[in-house]
Amino acid sequence: MPAITDLLRPHLRARKMYAPAASPPVYTRAVRLDWNESPFPPSPKARRAIETHLNGNRYPDFLQTALRESLGRYIDAPANRIIAGAGLDDVLNTIAMMVIEPGDEVIVSEPTFGVYRSLFSLHGASVRNVPLGTRPEFALDTAGILDAIGDRTKLVIVCNPNNPTGTHFAREDVERIVDESLCLVAIDEAYAEFSGRSHRDLVDKYQHVVILRTMSKFAGLAGFRVGYGVFPEILMPWLREIAPPFFNISAVAAAAAIASLEDVEHLRANVATIIEWREHLGAELLSIDGVTVFPSATNFLLVQLPMDDASPVVGALAANNVFVRHFPSPALGLRDCLRVSIGTAKENELFLALLKAELERKRGARSTMERG
Ligand SMILES: Cc1ncc(COP(=O)(O)O)c(C=O)c1O
Repeated sequence: MPAITDLLRPHLRARKMYAPAASPPVYTRAVRLDWNESPFPPSPKARRAIETHLNGNRYPDFLQTALRESLGRYIDAPANRIIAGAGLDDVLNTIAMMVIEPGDEVIVSEPTFGVYRSLFSLHGASVRNVPLGTRPEFALDTAGILDAIGDRTKLVIVCNPNNPTGTHFAREDVERIVDESLCLVAIDEAYAEFSGRSHRDLVDKYQHVVILRTMSKFAGLAGFRVGYGVFPEILMPWLREIAPPFFNISAVAAAAAIASLEDVEHLRANVATIIEWREHLGAELLSIDGVTVFPSATNFLLVQLPMDDASPVVGALAANNVFVRHFPSPALGLRDCLRVSIGTAKENELFLALLKAELERKRGARSTMERG
């Protein structure tokens, strides 16, 4: 009998295992500012839909027609050009299933959303990085991306606004990439509701653009897992073949998403409040000696600390039950930074106070050492 692990796909066996950052169990009273979630619960209409959704013995609508129609009205696209999934992660997986053969290439611009690399390499793609430019602009290397496109390139992913830098890339850069790419270009707009800008119009103009969105961030439905994409019409028959039954979306999650989209005014007010809190937190952080805050068009801030490696500070915050994100990989070039999601006003204040205290403590320790 061969070892059971011999049955694994070869590129999976060769894989360096992903070690997720330690994250608090949801039942602790931890302040979670590490996953860019909304500090607000689902909207009142969504909550009502969730609470009254008792017929869970029935499967959802096979085609999720009502959900896709509702998403279509929201993003101004026909329902028959929308593919939904259990979060945007799942829609990315559907794209990979559609186009990736082992050895194909996907181009990303790091530092960016880590799932692109892990997911597409799992499908056997070679993920090529065309890094973003230097701080504080973190600009897209448009010419570099276009140069990197080769015979085996299937997909370019542009995350705009970008996670984890918070950057909103120049519209003309994104449009140039789309205009000159001879492959699929997916524009991840997970944070579009916070930037107030979208490339949605490009799907009408180009045959090879996909716009990706999620209900996780602005609608506070991260736990329900609803994401979607607007795709070129020509790809729809294949996507419908590939997309999992029921689009992997439970009936209650679909009901919550539909009800949320009937409560858009409420959600817009939440977004405005988060932006106000982000600006306030950003200004407070900037007033700390040696701290830099990068411009953000999202619901989080990337914060540069006055040290080479921010991990001890991130660790000290975690020891106080406040979780923010650190990016230890030297390749990403963000070791001196932390990423903090905008939480409730109280959570933001707690984070700020702890960060100030920790930086003060470090400064005190340094000056004692220098004197001593
Ligand atoms: C840029 C980006 N895309 C996609 C996602 C995944 O979103 P979802 O919760 O819909 O899977 C995230 C989540 O953090 C993200 O930051």
